[in-house]
Amino acid sequence: NYIRVLRGLDNLESKLKHELGLKEVYIVPGSEDEAKAQQELGRRAARLLKEKLENNDVLAVNGGTTLAAVADFMLANNGATDITVVPARGGLGEEVEIQANTIAAQIANKLGGRYRLLHLPDNLDQTVVNTLIQKPQIKEVLNLAKEADILIHGIGTAEVMARRRQVDSLELEKILEAGAVGEAFGYYFNQTGEIVYSTTSLGVQLEDLKKKVGKTIAVAGGKKKAGAIISVVSDEYQDMLITDREAAEEILDLL
Ligand code: BG6
Repeated sequence: NYIRVLRGLDNLESKLKHELGLKEVYIVPGSEDEAKAQQELGRRAARLLKEKLENNDVLAVNGGTTLAAVADFMLANNGATDITVVPARGGLGEEVEIQANTIAAQIANKLGGRYRLLHLPDNLDQTVVNTLIQKPQIKEVLNLAKEADILIHGIGTAEVMARRRQVDSLELEKILEAGAVGEAFGYYFNQTGEIVYSTTSLGVQLEDLKKKVGKTIAVAGGKKKAGAIISVVSDEYQDMLITDREAAEEILDLL
């Protein structure tokens, strides 16, 4: 704690909490080395999850490299039991290591819990989505995710995420012209937090974060993501943010 005070992290946390209107903000010291910074975020988020999870909880997770780090740092369980972990969305057609399914399974195994998966891409036609969500096996997993006790997700910059989701160049132009800076859950947000574009999706919707999901935790760091974090995070959707010093200082500069 003494070290945290010296580093000014406590002070930074309360400023950010106030500016973003969140209940809880956690800041790790961070590093200029991106891989190291992500590991620190992962370690902190894994610890927080273990503190927050209670017996019989359902945990929903998104994909991404940050969430993959969370899964890596999850320790074997010595706390809550009978945890069910589900992906918050279908896959992205991304590398398997960073898909929500993989991360859900990894975390469940470490916690000695169970997992349910969604073996579906994330960018299907709405008509196909409407048919699929009627299937009992899919419906069951989706309902678990939408009513999760805790949901943890990453945040990406709009451009990086659009490219990762393999949108064509015309679509990408449209997204950026609409002023998108940040992305989460397939929703693209502009600087002032308005949704300017969204992909069809099978899984937890932004609205679910307000009404059905218990606690929502966002985890994202690095100076480059500051604008994206501002655009995505709000007291409407998130309860907690885990970030690093680089992002926190830049966010306060930008606001
Ligand atoms: C994706 C989520 O899997 O990860 C996105 O669906 C999020 O909503 C992204 O923006 C963040 O990825 P990363 O690799 O920057 O942690």
